[in-house]
Amino acid sequence: MQVHETIAGLRAALKAAGQNGQHVVLVPTMGNLHEGHITLMRQARTHGDTIVASIFVNRLQFRPGEDFERYPRTLAADCEKLVAAGVDHLFAPAEAELYPEPQRYVVEPPPEHANILEGAFRPGHFRGVATVVMKLFAVVQPQAALFGKKDYQQFMALSAMVRQFALPIEVIPGETVRADDGLALSSRNGYLTPAERAEAPRLHRCLARIVAAVRAGNRDYAALEAAADAELRARGWSPDYVAVRRRIDLELPPAEGKTPLVVLAAARLGSTRLIDNLEI
Ligand code: PAF
Repeated sequence: MQVHETIAGLRAALKAAGQNGQHVVLVPTMGNLHEGHITLMRQARTHGDTIVASIFVNRLQFRPGEDFERYPRTLAADCEKLVAAGVDHLFAPAEAELYPEPQRYVVEPPPEHANILEGAFRPGHFRGVATVVMKLFAVVQPQAALFGKKDYQQFMALSAMVRQFALPIEVIPGETVRADDGLALSSRNGYLTPAERAEAPRLHRCLARIVAAVRAGNRDYAALEAAADAELRARGWSPDYVAVRRRIDLELPPAEGKTPLVVLAAARLGSTRLIDNLEI
């Protein structure tokens, strides 16, 4: 695997790949890689010949007071995992390389994507995500890019961005990878104390119960959401939301008719904020 810290270095290496007619697939990450990321890397291999991973902890998508400073930076261990996963290139720029001057031109997702659910609790988050991903697309110019469905709203917003800007990039979803007890893998799981780690799978269990109820014909989404919220609070969590939404745009489910749904949740356990979702 070639490791590139500069845009120029990466571009020079990819030019050679492009000249050979290779299909370049990008997997953007913020590092501290776990099996969820590695699964995406393996999946990427089935979509192209040149796999580029990026590791960049993007300050623009963190609010003041969030975990930008303490976000785990584990480059050496990440490199070993990427090599084992057969990744061809790693782009791991310093902040000054990707943002050599304050990033004044930004991608502003529409409020109906950016201000709901995650965006309601993390204002500006999706502007930061869309801006860095647009920049990574400009740097790498991939034919395809993979994003995990654990960040369901991110996947939806980035798919819409690519579609609306007519970018020639296929956006491919990756399934959420879970621990045996159901907890969705996340770099932030490392913040959990042992007691919190034992409690954490409850979030998935609450979502799974809602999925089962809706599949059994219960359409009282508000009651199902409230029951999950109450259970989490009773066990010491601080939920931000538990919400049944339409998959396509994360709007409220229609009163009539059938449409594919997803249930999403975000909740704080101690000092750790966990998110998860399940398609219904
Ligand atoms: O999902 C992530 O890790 C980040 O939001 C992403 C897409 C790499 C942008 O910084």
